[in-house]
Amino acid sequence: MHRQWLFHFQRRSSAPVSPSRPLSLLLLLPLQTQRTSSRISQSQIAAILEARPIVDSDGKVCAVYGGIPDDVDFMENVHNPAVEALEQARAEASISEARTFHRRGNFAAISGGVSYGGGKLRPGPVVNGVINATIFQSLIGNAAFIRLAGFASSLFATWAPNLFDFYVDYMGLFFSKYSDMCRPFLNSIWSACTFNLGPWTCALGHRDFANLAFRWCSITALGFFDHVKGGHLILWDCKLILEFPPGCTILVPSAAIFHSNIPISMSERRYSFTQYTSGGIFRWVEHDFQMEKQYFANLTKDQIKEEQELGLQRAVDGAGLFSTIKELKSMAA
Ligand SMILES: [Fe+2]
Repeated sequence: MHRQWLFHFQRRSSAPVSPSRPLSLLLLLPLQTQRTSSRISQSQIAAILEARPIVDSDGKVCAVYGGIPDDVDFMENVHNPAVEALEQARAEASISEARTFHRRGNFAAISGGVSYGGGKLRPGPVVNGVINATIFQSLIGNAAFIRLAGFASSLFATWAPNLFDFYVDYMGLFFSKYSDMCRPFLNSIWSACTFNLGPWTCALGHRDFANLAFRWCSITALGFFDHVKGGHLILWDCKLILEFPPGCTILVPSAAIFHSNIPISMSERRYSFTQYTSGGIFRWVEHDFQMEKQYFANLTKDQIKEEQELGLQRAVDGAGLFSTIKELKSMAA
């Protein structure tokens, strides 16, 4: 495949990724027993600062609890302004009550960026009405979300460098061809994002099936809630329940793992910020920038069979892009 770079992102092979902090060898997030208030104190921040990988049965990092950036002013300068912006967005957004009920739960949301799927003929920008489009532009221009977006993307590059390279290649090819489209954040690899406006953003059990089975999306929890009592992320297939404090970012293959949140109380507020790239965009690139139907129409029977086998192999190869702790340590050395 012809390689092109995506703006300032570079493949690890040409520019080694330096972890933003030392890699942790802890495999699972230990459960906290200490009860915390709905507002995270500075001392509690230290406990959630460190990133921790989640490994699969092959010893590969399949998800990561990313914690928060190593910044004592993070909650005050990033988390709280982000919450304020989302609360303002919820007050001003044009979202009917009916649209707050969807398969992921009962909460308002505004999405944007570039996507492909759901019967669209080709990839394109997520369409919003004038009011919500304006709100989306305001949110992606907010310094707090730019910071959160970049942090999540750096976690991705650190903990899944091979998969990140895969994104760089495909996103590079895509956005080089469609220069009229752009990602929501120049400092982040994903092509789309969603602001979940709550006020009680707690997802029902689901898989994000529109995405590639092995791809990672990022989820950042925001708001004021007791993370020991509620808001946990349940990764059903991994049999894991993770505390998910406000400000923390977790990266998961959300198409492959069935996931949901534990509810919070009605007196609390929880929001989230997610970033992702739809699987349709990868397939669009793979199929020479055309619909699957058109692509297969030009193939012989043998070529179609070969492609179908290749498709199955891609899912296997995709999971193979995850890294072991040993590989990550050798890259960081
Ligand atoms: Fe999800």
